[in-house]
Parts: sequence; structure tokens; C-alpha cells
Amino acid sequence: MRCVLAVLLLVPALPARAGGRDLKRFFEARCAVCHGADGTGRGAGGIRLGPASFGDPKTFGTASDEDLAKAIRQGSGAMPAFGFVLDEAEARRLVREVLRPLAPRKRR
Ligand code: HEC
Repeated sequence: MRCVLAVLLLVPALPARAGGRDLKRFFEARCAVCHGADGTGRGAGGIRLGPASFGDPKTFGTASDEDLAKAIRQGSGAMPAFGFVLDEAEARRLVREVLRPLAPRKRR
């Protein structure tokens, strides 16, 4: 019985399988350190971390989901490549479901 309980407690801590992965949490764990939890590229206290805001019309307004997904998988400038953890479909889903919805909140 104890053992079953331990297994149940451990399950949520295991990395989710690709496809069903919670990309919002993935963003918070892997991207927010540089992009900020709100996607503005600012960290605690509003300190600029480096990347432009996802709400920046110059960088993100004109880029297609495909372009952004490609940049995420291949890396871009100071940003590491994530192609080894995200497949094409996941990267696009990340753009559509996590990055784009963050954009309108704040521009800078
Ligand atoms: C080590 C810091 C760092 C991490 C971690 C990071 N980024 Fe970036 N990201 C940057 C920098 C720096 C740029 C380029 C500068 C800019 O666009 O202002 C960038 C650019 C981007 C761009 C625009 C690419 C382009 O060139 O058009 C996207 C989209 C993006 N990041 C998404 C993500 C996602 C999604 C993750 C997590 C999987 C992530 N980033 C993790 C630092 C980071």
C-alpha cells in the first residue's frame, strides 16, 4: 500500500511524454529564465534579461509561427537550440498556445 502511494506521488514529477507535454510548464521551466514568465524579456523587478518582448511588433509581429518554431529549434543568437527536446509540431504548438497569447499583454 505504501509503495503504491509512493508511485502515485512520483508520477507527476516524471517528465511528461512528448505530445502530451504541458508546454506552459515547459516554457516556465526552460524559457522564462531569459524571456520572463510574462514573455516581456524582463525578470524580477523589471530587469531586462536580453531577449526582446514577445509583444514587440518588430521582432514577433511579422514572424510566422513556422519562423519562430524554427528559431526555437535551431537557436537564435544567444539563445540555445531546443530542437533536441521539441519536435516541429511541439515547437509550433508552443508558439501558438504559449508565446502568442503572452504577446498582447505588454509590449515592452
Ligand atoms: C539563455 C537565454 C534564453 C533561453 C533559455 C531561451 N531564449 Fe529565446 N531568445 C533569447 C535571446 C537572447 C533571443 C534573441 C534576442 C531577441 O530576440 O531579442 C531569443 C529569441 C527568441 C525568439 C525569437 C527568435 C527569432 O530570432 O525570431 C523566440 C521565438 C524565442 N526566443 C523563444 C524561446 C523559447 C520558446 C524558449 C524555451 C524553449 C527560449 N526562447 C529560451 C534567449 C533565450
